[in-house]
Amino acid sequence: MAARKPKPLVAGNWKMNGLKASVKEVNALNAKLKKAGRVPCEVLICPPMPSVQAFAAKAKGTKVAIGAQDCHANLSGAHTGDVSAEMLKDVGAKFVIVGHSERRADHGETSAEVKAKALAAHRAGITAIVCVGETEKERDAGDTLKVITSQLKGSLDDGFTAKNTVIAYEPVWAIGTGRTPTPEDVAKVHAHIRKRLAARFGSDGDAFRILYGGSVKPSNAEELMSVPNVNGALVGGASLKATDFFGIISAYL
Ligand code: 13P
Repeated sequence: MAARKPKPLVAGNWKMNGLKASVKEVNALNAKLKKAGRVPCEVLICPPMPSVQAFAAKAKGTKVAIGAQDCHANLSGAHTGDVSAEMLKDVGAKFVIVGHSERRADHGETSAEVKAKALAAHRAGITAIVCVGETEKERDAGDTLKVITSQLKGSLDDGFTAKNTVIAYEPVWAIGTGRTPTPEDVAKVHAHIRKRLAARFGSDGDAFRILYGGSVKPSNAEELMSVPNVNGALVGGASLKATDFFGIISAYL
């Protein structure tokens, strides 16, 4: 059905893990990717904010892009502790994750705020990775698709394109738990997201990358990445070590 098959993206979200010495994992990953030759997917690491600049400098011109895990919606101003998308762009970030469920939960971020952050990323020339996903309670109530529809509706803006936006589906109950939905369940949600994107963005909806996230590891990557409409992964714990992360990327090699 999709005329253009999106190039997969395998993204690592390091969350609040890693010091500047952890750049050795980026170097190790690069060495593995170099050895692998042609890599048919994009590879991204999003370290904690203080490491973005140094990691981006190290990874410049390599097969690994560097991104961030959040940004403020505004360009600048009195927002103590916050970082603008322009600042991220300035230090070499190519992507920024917005609306991760941990931020929605820990910081009460609403879909409207997530949309504003994604728009800020676009303003700065950075690709936004917009996260959606249901909680276990919502899933048990049979509300998964309803929740996803509402998060997509509120977090996306009409001008979003497949070039400046990536969607990540992360069931909250699968994050860091070792539990994953069945491939059939993933297929159902990703097909639903694809349908919503097509309804809103027309034929460009087919070109958006829809990542799956939640307990992706080397042993289940191949199965999850072969599900229709899964165009890559957003990986937490298993992205911290180059060996594990490369094991996941290997699903595309
Ligand atoms: P885990 O891969 O550790 O389950 O985390 C997923 C995630 O939240 C990535 O953003």
